[in-house]
Amino acid sequence: MTALDLSSPVGVVGTGTMGQGIAQVALVAGHPVRLYDAVPGKAREAADAIGARLDRLVEKDRLTDTERDAARARLEPVEGVAGLADCSLVIEAVLERLDVKQELFRSLEEVVAEDCLLATNTSSLSVTAIGGALVNPGRFVGLHFFNPAPLLPLVEVVSGFATDVTSATRAYETARAWGKTPVACADTPGFIVNRIARPFYAEAFAVHESQGADPATIDAVLRESGGFRMGAFELTDLIGQDVNESVTHSVWQSFFQDVRFTPSLAQRRLVESGRLGRKSGHGWYDYAPDADRPEPHTAEPERAPAYVVAEGDLGPAGELLALLREAGIQVREEEEDQGTRLVLPSGGQLALADGQTSVEFRDVVYFDLALDYRRATRIALSASQDTSPQTLAEAIGLFQALGKKVSVIGDVPGMIVARTVARIVDLAHDAVAKGVATEEDIDTAMRLGVNYPLGPFEWSRRLGRNWAYSLLDDLHLRDPSGRYAPSLALYRHAYATDKREGSGS
Ligand SMILES: NC(=O)c1ccc[n+]([C@@H]2O[C@H](COP(=O)([O-])OP(=O)(O)OC[C@H]3O[C@@H](n4cnc5c(N)ncnc54)[C@H](O)[C@@H]3O)[C@@H](O)[C@H]2O)c1
Repeated sequence: MTALDLSSPVGVVGTGTMGQGIAQVALVAGHPVRLYDAVPGKAREAADAIGARLDRLVEKDRLTDTERDAARARLEPVEGVAGLADCSLVIEAVLERLDVKQELFRSLEEVVAEDCLLATNTSSLSVTAIGGALVNPGRFVGLHFFNPAPLLPLVEVVSGFATDVTSATRAYETARAWGKTPVACADTPGFIVNRIARPFYAEAFAVHESQGADPATIDAVLRESGGFRMGAFELTDLIGQDVNESVTHSVWQSFFQDVRFTPSLAQRRLVESGRLGRKSGHGWYDYAPDADRPEPHTAEPERAPAYVVAEGDLGPAGELLALLREAGIQVREEEEDQGTRLVLPSGGQLALADGQTSVEFRDVVYFDLALDYRRATRIALSASQDTSPQTLAEAIGLFQALGKKVSVIGDVPGMIVARTVARIVDLAHDAVAKGVATEEDIDTAMRLGVNYPLGPFEWSRRLGRNWAYSLLDDLHLRDPSGRYAPSLALYRHAYATDKREGSGS
């Protein structure tokens, strides 16, 4: 099965933000494109707006004058669905309502040819449910573009229960021929990206709600230690709190209020009070011209310890030992079956965040997971009231000696990056086990759809195969609500690893 022939006309229904972007993609790829919108005159305005964007592509030397003129000539606004009769593919990007979309596809099915592929750009409705309105739902598929469609490469190609393999393949190949990176996925709430990304926001909000740290500190740790492009607070301010909350809410509702997807109360309050983010001038942060941008918590300089004793294998933080030696801190390594930690001269311990709290131990400081300890510019530490001031000072001095800024947060099990990554890894395993997508497509989707520095499976391999399971298991013990309960898929993964490695379960 091949992509649609470039001479085949493509119809786009709903010429708002997404419709215009998708139309531009199909047009620049070389198709004749028909635009239809329910509001009279809107398709014509959209054609003009797309024309202006083509002009800008010419200014940037990304399109020649001739190509622009030819593309404009291929773009035709029409005044009713009948104008889409000769299309080989129609993609809708209308109002996000099941009844509206079903009604539209019923009327489209009456005018288009029997072999015309029909597609929805829905982000939160079920493709199976929309397709239920069709006489032939086999030709119906989800083509979920990301905003702005001309710039973002990812397209989730969603098969509903009734979608034919040939239709899904044709949609997939067509998206690829348009220069996009398609990923195949089943019809489940949030598809791939909006399902697996939920903990990125939820865990940041949860750490804040539990008084663990302020938004500026959490954002800085996610960026500078986790390697994420933006922190969860600044990113949701950019997306719009209402838009982000509505996706979270819809995924949570669609999963029958599964506790793993519970929305944030604090975000609800922001939305209710009109603090929608950048677009309203105030969200988690205040964007008034005279407002102070809050700074992340950064510890004052402390003296580095002269030596540490490394007990056991530090796992994902193993690289620290080489960094400490390079910084002139003496490292004595001791075999240890039980613990994986650094013992400081104070006698206190420094351990990688593992889902336990500092208060459970006599004198311990936890440090957060970093994407890459060499390149991280900030590390979060957590301590309890039982941690001695000397241990905390030595832990701060140790990371400062490696050139890192240090943020001290509250005694939050799993800290910030570690719990976020563990939950993303878990949801990714769960999604594969439920047939949502392949590991490879999930990694691609999370890197391209939300700019994660690594796909969840790449991250999981780097962290060790049962790292996420054991962290979540610890967290689940401390918060038995079910929010952190590791999935059966992650359990199987960790158990299989243990057996292979001969260490039992
Ligand atoms: N905005 C995003 O970031 C984004 C990303 C991915 C998917 N989506 C999905 O794309 C779709 C459109 O979103 P948008 O942000 O472009 O919306 P939008 O409000 O910008 O545009 C919707 C357009 O559809 C038209 N319309 C409404 N009902 C219609 C009908 N029955 N027939 C013809 N035209 C109709 C409206 O007049 C409007 O021009 C939704 O399903 C949304 O979930 C949006």
